[in-house]
Amino acid sequence: MSRVTTVSFREKKRTGDKIAMLTAYDYPSAKLMDECGVDAMLVGDSCGMTVMGRANTLSVTMDEMLHHTRMVAAAVSQAMVVADMPFLSYQVSAEEAVRNAGRLIAEGGAHAVKLEGPVRHVGAAVERIVAAGIPVMGHLGLTPQSIHQLGGYKIQARSGEARQLLAEDATALEKAGCFALVLEVIPADLARTVSKSLTIPTIGIGAGPECDGQVLVMHDMLGFGLYARHVKVYADVRTVMADAFKQYVNEVKNGEFPGEENTFS
Ligand code: KIV
Repeated sequence: MSRVTTVSFREKKRTGDKIAMLTAYDYPSAKLMDECGVDAMLVGDSCGMTVMGRANTLSVTMDEMLHHTRMVAAAVSQAMVVADMPFLSYQVSAEEAVRNAGRLIAEGGAHAVKLEGPVRHVGAAVERIVAAGIPVMGHLGLTPQSIHQLGGYKIQARSGEARQLLAEDATALEKAGCFALVLEVIPADLARTVSKSLTIPTIGIGAGPECDGQVLVMHDMLGFGLYARHVKVYADVRTVMADAFKQYVNEVKNGEFPGEENTFS
């Protein structure tokens, strides 16, 4: 299999071949995902919550994103690596945005960056980053970096006016140069309409089956995280790990481990 690129994203949109994306934050998980045919890995700022134990994504820094992006980029030979731009790395000025996006590519090894929000907030940043030759993935709907403004992690764009605005925002992000767009926790029929109206692929999370691709947070789909309606737990890895940890504790305490086969003479 050859490397998944922005060109293959466009081709998948044309052919209707769905894009499978997962979050990844470390080398072994990313290596396994790459071997298993995951098309794109998102080094999401969700790492602030899933692996750093924070209440939200707002305190994740550029240095932390670089640290995780390097681990994922080192593991991957086929998938596209998309690095999230953390809170305040692109909102202050377009100059800072392009410099920070460039760091995620040059120092982190990502192939693209993702940032949240509509063109009226992030348009200048998107255009400058794209002009620097860096692919940008947009993100609309439930945008966790605006959690205090949104008033919680809840479904977005339900009313007529909000639906219309989201559809317009999607078109504007495509025009600004985004190569793909994440739609998070919005009604499925709106996601379908938006997906049909765009020439770039949409990647849904809690946005129904008719997006051009899907993304899930790895820890959620392995049973570690969130039990929201849009999450499917594909394997209860948490329980498998808990059983192993408990068995180890027992075996150490009752002298069963290390056995003869684990011991040097
Ligand atoms: O940070 C993240 O994991 C994300 C996905 C939920 C789309 O932005």
